[in-house]
Amino acid sequence: MAEIAAPRGTHDILPAESSAWRWLLQTHAGIAESFGYRPIETPIIESTELFARGVGVETDIVEKQMFTFTDRGGRSLSLRPESTAGVVRAVLGARLDQERRPVRVHYQGPMFRAERPQAGRQHQFTQVGVECIGERSPELDAEVIEIAWRFFDALRLTGVRLQVNTLGDAEDRIRYRAALVSYYTPLRDRLCDDCKRRLDINPLRLLDCKKDADLAAGAPVIWELLDAGSKEFFNAVLTSLEQAGVIAHVNHRIVRGLDYYADTVFEFWHDSLHGAQNSLGGGGRYDGLAEILGLPPSPGTGYALGVERILMVGQRLGVIPAPDRDCDVVVCSVDSPQAHHAASLARDLRGAGLRVVLDVSDRRLDRKLRAADRLGALAAVIVGEDEVRDGTAVVRDLAEHAQQRVSATDVAAAVTRTVETRA
Ligand code: HAM
Repeated sequence: MAEIAAPRGTHDILPAESSAWRWLLQTHAGIAESFGYRPIETPIIESTELFARGVGVETDIVEKQMFTFTDRGGRSLSLRPESTAGVVRAVLGARLDQERRPVRVHYQGPMFRAERPQAGRQHQFTQVGVECIGERSPELDAEVIEIAWRFFDALRLTGVRLQVNTLGDAEDRIRYRAALVSYYTPLRDRLCDDCKRRLDINPLRLLDCKKDADLAAGAPVIWELLDAGSKEFFNAVLTSLEQAGVIAHVNHRIVRGLDYYADTVFEFWHDSLHGAQNSLGGGGRYDGLAEILGLPPSPGTGYALGVERILMVGQRLGVIPAPDRDCDVVVCSVDSPQAHHAASLARDLRGAGLRVVLDVSDRRLDRKLRAADRLGALAAVIVGEDEVRDGTAVVRDLAEHAQQRVSATDVAAAVTRTVETRA
């Protein structure tokens, strides 16, 4: 029978990669929590309408990239392509903003987008992110950006370039839309089919198009059309970032691919990622999103970062920690009659806080010791006939090939000493 492979655009995280993942996820959670953000988990499936309304029907994500299906009750559901809409739904749906405002949350988990798979672009990928919901302030935009900045710093991920822009308020965007329509209408024949449609429905999305990037380069920039209040808000974000020591590059071409943004938007770029996949993450302010979802109006700001892309860059920079050892110690018997004794010793060692593998094979002792080396064990505990009889065990330092016989009650202390010296 043919071997079944993982679905296209997905990948397994095998044990050797797990310490790198744990390092990244724990570092993110630790930094976010040091800013008072608390963990939140929302479902992987959501009603399709959440994304249609929240992210926007005219975005590439909703139009072309969602995994959507109908459940047995005839309801349309989608695998979440992102988390912001779900988190806003969860936080405001539970009225958490009545207890504390703003509500600060962080998350991690799988997202799904049916893009053409390539390096750094998968059908299933993982994001870490934060959302700060319930208050409008430039300091909070700067706060979420600073969290990501400290996170990259903690990972020692050098070369991250922060790009920031503002999309202004609703009225600024109406003016901007009109300016884009006047610019693009004479160029209509040169636009790709998708962009011809975008010109009529959602001209801001024209700036995202990869095919028409040369035309986008000459398009008007929103900054020229912003009112004084929007400019003041953005300048306050920049001032707070500067005070935090975060280096921001103002880039008026950043518009982001999701419709819910207003005012501040930002992306984290890295040169070692190429082309359209150069973004490690992004985010911004989404003050109109709650209302679009039928929830009490409530401002918000946040970001999400792509874990696989960060690990790719980390690999290139050589900052990923080495895979962890499988265990500290292997316990084995010389022959099968001593197996129960070995199992009982293994339990005692686990009770003493050690990571213990019990070798239950009927291999010869030298093979068992070689297998212990491959697991990265620093010590082996061996029980043979003599040891069972005398109530002792042999503790072997696998690096030094030195061994000592100790009484059963001293085994944990002897192994701990060996592990601590060698680790
Ligand atoms: P996004 O820019 O769509 O924003 O995604 C954030 C990051 O997720 C990207 O920069 C990239 O690193 C990663 N990513 C996206 N698609 C893929 C893919 N197909 N394969 C691998 N990685 C991918 C958001 O998702 C917003 N929810 C961010 C946000 C939070 N805005 C406000 N709060």
